[in-house]
Amino acid sequence: MHENTLLEVNNLRTHFFLEKGVLKAIDGISFRVAKGETLALVGESGCGKSLTAASIMGLVPSPGKVVDGEILLNGEDLLQKTQKEMRQVRGSRITMIFQEPMTALNPVFTIGWQIMEPLRYHRKDLTKAEAKERAIELLDLLRIPLPRQRFHEYPHQLSGGMRQRVLIAMALACDPDLLICDEPTTALDVTVQAQILDLLLEIKEKLGTSIIMITHDLGVVREIADRVAIMYAGKIVEENSTHEVFNQPRHPYTEALLNSVPRIVQGERQEELYQIPGMVPNLLKTHQGCLFAPRCDYAKELCFGVTPEEHLVLGGLVACRRYSEEVDLRELN
Ligand SMILES: Nc1ncnc2c1ncn2[C@@H]1O[C@H](COP(=O)(O)OP(=O)(O)OP(=O)(O)O)[C@@H](O)[C@H]1O
Ligand SMILES: [Mg+2]
Repeated sequence: MHENTLLEVNNLRTHFFLEKGVLKAIDGISFRVAKGETLALVGESGCGKSLTAASIMGLVPSPGKVVDGEILLNGEDLLQKTQKEMRQVRGSRITMIFQEPMTALNPVFTIGWQIMEPLRYHRKDLTKAEAKERAIELLDLLRIPLPRQRFHEYPHQLSGGMRQRVLIAMALACDPDLLICDEPTTALDVTVQAQILDLLLEIKEKLGTSIIMITHDLGVVREIADRVAIMYAGKIVEENSTHEVFNQPRHPYTEALLNSVPRIVQGERQEELYQIPGMVPNLLKTHQGCLFAPRCDYAKELCFGVTPEEHLVLGGLVACRRYSEEVDLRELN
């Protein structure tokens, strides 16, 4: 393992054991997150983004199960840890923030009390007064005005944006190595979204926390991510630096996703978005070949029969038969 690597996921498979059969929701994904790096996980609804996060956190819901792979945090395999050991990892070394700030906060406790909660559990070395100071420091770090006063307020007294800041403060309380954000700004309006993103960028700079950012918003990706992993139907089809992904998308699915972003044409926002035609595959069925082939403009007969291998390309990798070696796009097809 490279010394700069914080998290390394190797060949992760997470399946749901349903009456109808085995749903291969995550089917052999590998990626790494370096120290201080932000990796965006992107893809259509149902492709396995949240489940990847749940697998890392050790919180896969039943009847789901991690059936294969490794999740190495600083070289230690989290999949080998007991439930009790994972409770120690969660909330201190890896933390997560979710999409809906109101449901994640408890309405009957003050926000100060809630920020102190992870400190009480994981930082037993701190006195109550020290934990309180730390909580106020965090509110301040998250630019919550009048933190000493706000400490005593309840979630309903705060706006949506402020509640999301409180959740981020809770997630940062124990100075985690890895912060996983699952659609953290989707429920917020555009201005507040931008503020939260700026804050996350600042935190990344100041604290050097590694971040996995789950989002379907490519604007968010472009702003915050160093690298991007594009997921399709339980697999990573392309992984590269944000720059490469946006400037030279290699997988046809990535290309289609980028085309589906609203574009400004001569100062006007296009109303008609490019929709990716076709449906995502049913993961209960056994598939042959490339899962994206039925929706792919470049698909050839071979794509329906042979599962694409991962090919190394400049800066990353792509799972598409068009890249049996790094070749110029004009030569393809
Ligand atoms: N509790 C469950 N039981 C059965 N299948 C599940 C369960 N949770 C998730 N799945 C399946 O696992 C797959 C991945 O789901 P996941 O929640 O990771 O998607 P996602 O990429 O986060 O989508 P979204 O963008 O909608 O949040 C989906 O096909 C989903 O149907
Ligand atoms: Mg999700």
